[in-house]
Amino acid sequence: MEKKTPNATGSTTQAGIPAVSDRNSLTVGNDGPVVLHDHHLIETMQHFNRMNVPERRPHAKGAGAFGTFEVTEDVSRYTKADFLQPGKKTEMLARFSTVAGELGSPDTWRDVRGFALKFYTEEGNFDMVGNNTPVFFVRDPMKFAHFIRSQKRLPDSGLRDGTMQWDFWTNNPESAHQVTYLMGERGLPKTWRHMNGYSSHTYSLVNAAGERFWVKWHFQTNQGMEHLTNEEAEQMAGANADFHRQDLFEAIGRGEHPSWDLYFQIMPYDEAKEYRFNPFDLTKVWSKKDYPRIRVGTMTLNRNPENFFAQIEQASFSPANMVPGTGNSPDKMLLGRTFSYQDAQRYRVGTNFQQLPVNRPINEVHTYNFEGNMWYDHTGARSVYAPNSFGDSWSDEEGPVENGWEADGELTRHAYNLHADDDDFGQPGTLVREVFDDAQRDEFVKTVAGALDGVAEPVLSNAFQYWKNVDPVIGQRIEDAVKAAPGDTAVPGMGIDADD
Ligand code: HEM
Repeated sequence: MEKKTPNATGSTTQAGIPAVSDRNSLTVGNDGPVVLHDHHLIETMQHFNRMNVPERRPHAKGAGAFGTFEVTEDVSRYTKADFLQPGKKTEMLARFSTVAGELGSPDTWRDVRGFALKFYTEEGNFDMVGNNTPVFFVRDPMKFAHFIRSQKRLPDSGLRDGTMQWDFWTNNPESAHQVTYLMGERGLPKTWRHMNGYSSHTYSLVNAAGERFWVKWHFQTNQGMEHLTNEEAEQMAGANADFHRQDLFEAIGRGEHPSWDLYFQIMPYDEAKEYRFNPFDLTKVWSKKDYPRIRVGTMTLNRNPENFFAQIEQASFSPANMVPGTGNSPDKMLLGRTFSYQDAQRYRVGTNFQQLPVNRPINEVHTYNFEGNMWYDHTGARSVYAPNSFGDSWSDEEGPVENGWEADGELTRHAYNLHADDDDFGQPGTLVREVFDDAQRDEFVKTVAGALDGVAEPVLSNAFQYWKNVDPVIGQRIEDAVKAAPGDTAVPGMGIDADD
């Protein structure tokens, strides 16, 4: 912020009345007691006590910037969404974050990074709330709260705890793919500019003829994928906890506008049933050989927030925000998320969070939900119910929805149906054997061994077996490394043990 000389020409109370002093409270005599009717003092203290809103339960630490998304290709054969039509430019907001750490936690703790986008389209807000990894730890929304609690803090000491983290992962073997990503380079991106973003979930698209497609979204960084070593990240966690936040803000300030190219992986609607992996299982990727990526356009971040609290802290993203031509899928996690976010935001920000400038759409809102805390839109004298006989419009779609799918069967509690190649360890095995190179594998073994330092039995043995299930050679190397030199590699932000 630019330095200015102190200006004593006057401030006001929140009611706009000239405030008498921002330095001296009102007292009875110079040394006397402070009086209660010093409204300016009381208001200042009262407001200060209410300055915080709850932090996001996961993804509390983050920052972001505004930008523009431009469609450079023609994907109209897959979607009729207005903002995805050729040549279209749409204003947008991005927020990047860590998952487990609290508001003041270091940006360079090893973690998955959030990659949340809000597109202010002419058909309403479209949000893509993804991560920098193409998969996730669990595939049933029932497990999400348990997962996040296991990565946060113990109830007695308030410490994070490696035993608890690994106990959750090893008891939920579908986590192996995402934990492999987390322990690899993606767990420590150099900056937010140097990481890719993914929808992770399978979503749907609908074209103008009503044809449906399944889609995964990939945002590929044009800055190149780069990462920090454990040592660099550990050092930075102490030196500058806001390293990634500062990097993004200063890069944009310098006019270095980071950009990402958007690609779609498209699966024809009818192929989902027979694909070798269940395409709605969030712990799986689709092979790029089976479904090559199709270029769509480019998003560029070019404008910093002017007020962090108003534009970033209160920003509210939701997977439920989908515009015509887009839609969700039978992915159970995605369906759970469709409820969760706006519920969190009604608590975190307030009932009418969608009226705040950062959250409100650019098109006109005509909703029958209104009033409540802090409502300020003047709706005028109009019908408060639908249908009505006084010309106030209402919606009336009936029949099969265009972005839906067929489903039947008894109500049941069960994991997904398995497809031909589905298991928990196959894809993570491929990742360590065929995607990682030798140097990446060596670093991976060191990182996992470091993260297992201090983990208690029987969880430690379960973790050795977990990695042997992913790959017998890698699993043995991890076990040998832990036994040979416990604590050799410090892994920033992973469980803190009493002896650290
Ligand atoms: C059932 C599973 C999940 C539930 C219930 C859930 C719930 C939540 C909640 C309640 C928040 C805080 C929202 C707020 O206060 O504004 C949040 C934030 C977030 N979640 Fe999830 N989540 C789930 C899975 C996922 C997955 C699979 C991804 C990525 C693919 C993801 C990415 C994010 C991101 C990026 C944020 C931060 C958004 C921001 O920057 O404001 N979440 N999640």
